[in-house]
Amino acid sequence: MDARAWNVYSCCAGTRHRCSVGALLCVLAAALLSVASAGPLAGTRFPFESCIKTDGSSRFSAYLKNNTYDVWTGTSRVCIGFEVAPADACDAGPYRCCNTNFNKFKFYPSPNCRRAMREVFFQLNTGPPVKIDALYYEDEGEEFIGKVTTLPFTLENADGGSICWTLVPPCGTLYEFTHEATRDKGLFEIALYDRKVDNYEVRTGPGVLPTGGRLERR
Ligand SMILES: *[C@@H]1O[C@H](CO)[C@@H](O)[C@H](O)[C@H]1NC(C)=O
Repeated sequence: MDARAWNVYSCCAGTRHRCSVGALLCVLAAALLSVASAGPLAGTRFPFESCIKTDGSSRFSAYLKNNTYDVWTGTSRVCIGFEVAPADACDAGPYRCCNTNFNKFKFYPSPNCRRAMREVFFQLNTGPPVKIDALYYEDEGEEFIGKVTTLPFTLENADGGSICWTLVPPCGTLYEFTHEATRDKGLFEIALYDRKVDNYEVRTGPGVLPTGGRLERR
C-alpha cells in the first residue's frame, strides 16, 4: 500500500469550550458540518468537536512515514511525517485556517492502550529529533483520545518534519494501538490543533492514516 494513498481533510472551527469571541464561528461550523456530505472519513465523531471539514482548507497534511515492527520485542516505532502545501493551494473562506501553526497532535487510540506509547520525539525540518514528555489522555467514556502538546510546528518548519513514538505490548502495533472503531478499516485518526488566537482554537489538518502502511521488519 502506498503510504500516502489516503485522504487528509482539513478542518476549521472554534472549540465548544472556548467560544466567547468565536461563538458565531462555532455555530456556523456545526451547521456546515451537518450539511457536508463528507463528514469524518473514518465514520467516527473523533475528535468530538464540531468543525468544518473541506479539502484544501488547511496547509498541513500528515502521512504515515514509516512503521517498523521488531519481532523480538513485539514493539513498533511509528513515524508520522508532515507536509505544508503552498499558500495559494489553500482556501478557508472567512476562517484563518490557512494561516496557522500547530502545537497539539491528537489521536484516537484504543482505551486499553493508555501505557503503550513511549519515547515520543518530534523533529522540525530545521533540527534534530527532540524528546517530548507532554503526552496526555482525555477519558470521557467513548470519547477517549490521546494528545501530545507543546509542539512547536509552524508553516515554515513543519514541511518535512515528523513525530515518532514507540508502541509496546499489549499494544505493540499501530493496528492494536488504534481505537476499535477505526482499526478494522485500517485507519488511525489524528488531528492537529493550533494555539488559541483571539480566544478560539483552530483545528487544522486532521486526517486518517493507514494502520499498516509499509510495515518494515527490523
Ligand atoms: C522513519 O522516519 C523518521 C522521521 O523522519 C526517521 O528519523 C527514521 O530514520 C525513519 N526510520 C526508518 C526505519 O526509516
